[in-house]
Amino acid sequence: MQVNPPHMPQAKRQRIQTGSGGGRKFFVGGNWKMHGTSASIRELIQAWRETPVTANVEVVIGCPAPYLSAVSAELAAMKFGTAAQNCYKADKGAFTGEISPGMIKDSGADWVILGHSERRDVFGETDAQIADKTKFAIDHGLKVIWCCGEHKEERESGATDAVIAAQLEALAAKLAADDWGNLVIAYEPVWAIGTGLTATPEMAQHTQAQIRGWLRANASDAVAAQTRILYGGSVKPANCDALAAQPDIDGFLVGGASLKPDFTSVMNAADKSGC
Ligand code: PGA
Repeated sequence: MQVNPPHMPQAKRQRIQTGSGGGRKFFVGGNWKMHGTSASIRELIQAWRETPVTANVEVVIGCPAPYLSAVSAELAAMKFGTAAQNCYKADKGAFTGEISPGMIKDSGADWVILGHSERRDVFGETDAQIADKTKFAIDHGLKVIWCCGEHKEERESGATDAVIAAQLEALAAKLAADDWGNLVIAYEPVWAIGTGLTATPEMAQHTQAQIRGWLRANASDAVAAQTRILYGGSVKPANCDALAAQPDIDGFLVGGASLKPDFTSVMNAADKSGC
């Protein structure tokens, strides 16, 4: 008989007992965006080394391209992974300013963040372009933190589920059945990114359960059970435990708070998640 730790929330206890959790390991992604210097990054990683991090979490840090080699070597020694924050859908060629999945892997990183709302909104990337890049990255050996989410007006007009379904449909049109195992989905309501406004745990849970339902209906039961769905948008040490307790929140993608020494508290929310 399985004995669950007393702190484990009821919903997660049920999930483990019914086996519907799919054995999803909690995942905490950092997204440093266009922040940091060699010196500040060295200092940050040194601070993280001073706090023990649970073995129940997979940590992957999204790092600016110029620092990928140095950072992935440092983080690998801590058993953390490293992600690039973008890539292009070609091996090489006349694409000034772009980087390829092969270059990312050659720098020591195994992951790439694709479809972030800043790429969509500031750089005009479309659902279809993001889907193409996701497929290309997976085919070339990278794992993908694939982001989706609605704008404020879309949430207010009740369009959240439809917006996310359209983003997922564009992705699913390009993926083969076994590609799903190489990505995690980050649900990031755009109105919550960098604003200090976080979706309530219930709001995030509701949308993430919708995403899992979409996967069940349009990919497979196994994909729905196994795919990790992260929440992103103003996650920080003060709010991560309540979010982690939700049954369909399998981790986080974190911007601002991932640049701080106490980001280790967010990594350790895995122990409150029951995953
Ligand atoms: P934030 O960013 O945590 O600063 O809101 C999240 C993200 O952009 O991934």
